Amino acid sequence: MLNLDKDADYQLPGSPFLQVEHLTRVITARAQKTTLLNDITFTVPTQSLFTINGPSGSGKSTLLNMLTGIDRPTEGSVIFAGQELKAQSENALARWRGRNVGIIFQFFQLIPTLTAIENVLLALELGGGGNLPRQAWRERAQICLSIVDAGSFAQRLPAELSGGQQQRVAIARALANDPPVLITDEPTGNLDSRTAHAIFTTLANLTTQGKTVIYVTHDPQLASLAQARIDLLDGQIVNTHGTKATITSRQEEVHS
Ligand SMILES: Nc1ncnc2c1ncn2[C@@H]1O[C@H](COP(=O)(O)OP(=O)(O)OP(=O)(O)O)[C@@H](O)[C@H]1O
Ligand SMILES: [Mg+2]
Repeated sequence: MLNLDKDADYQLPGSPFLQVEHLTRVITARAQKTTLLNDITFTVPTQSLFTINGPSGSGKSTLLNMLTGIDRPTEGSVIFAGQELKAQSENALARWRGRNVGIIFQFFQLIPTLTAIENVLLALELGGGGNLPRQAWRERAQICLSIVDAGSFAQRLPAELSGGQQQRVAIARALANDPPVLITDEPTGNLDSRTAHAIFTTLANLTTQGKTVIYVTHDPQLASLAQARIDLLDGQIVNTHGTKATITSRQEEVHS
């Protein structure tokens, strides 16, 4: 049986899972400095669905890259379950990411020549099998597909699935190694609004199984359904709900 709660015991529900403190990202190109993120401070409560909302170019993906340790802040820090990310080497960060973060992409990024279950098995292969012996991997992959209502698609190729079904398989793949956090950048940006809503609900339901879900979207309606959120504009926090965050720039026309 897949133990989704395995990693949940190192923080109590409601305590901050992820803390971002005074995070700034400045890019210097041809002697010109551009500030992509400006003094961002917020916390993500554990076992919540947390949205980062904002229009195109507001800095959402830049921020996600800091949270996953793919990019490093110019100033400030990202503290994940008590550990500061920038203190680690690239190799240590990659290993940490493999164990702790499941990433779900807008365009699913499934391997087209592999069936749904083989796509999940590949993640187990690459991630070390989530501490399970190899003979248990197929059962685990099937359980991951079932958790997201994709159990009946196990033997289908991605081309034989709708966009929403492919995204379910991609979520199952992200669950494969049982990471405590799932991070997703516009997972429903390529889907119709009804399917987007269903995928959002599936991700929200994972919080009851111990997962913390960080969900980036430019859709304010979806974002407003989350337990906690921040809204970005021009690299600053302009609105927050359900969590501790510092508003760095007041915006008159922010809808919550
Ligand atoms: N490497 C880079 N060099 C210069 N500017 C960059 C770089 N990466 C991002 N930017 C700029 O930073 C800003 C924020 O980009 P980012 O990709 O984080 O936005 P976003 O909120 O994810 O937008 P979208 O909703 O379109 O995905 C944009 O103006 C973008 O052009
Ligand atoms: Mg983006």
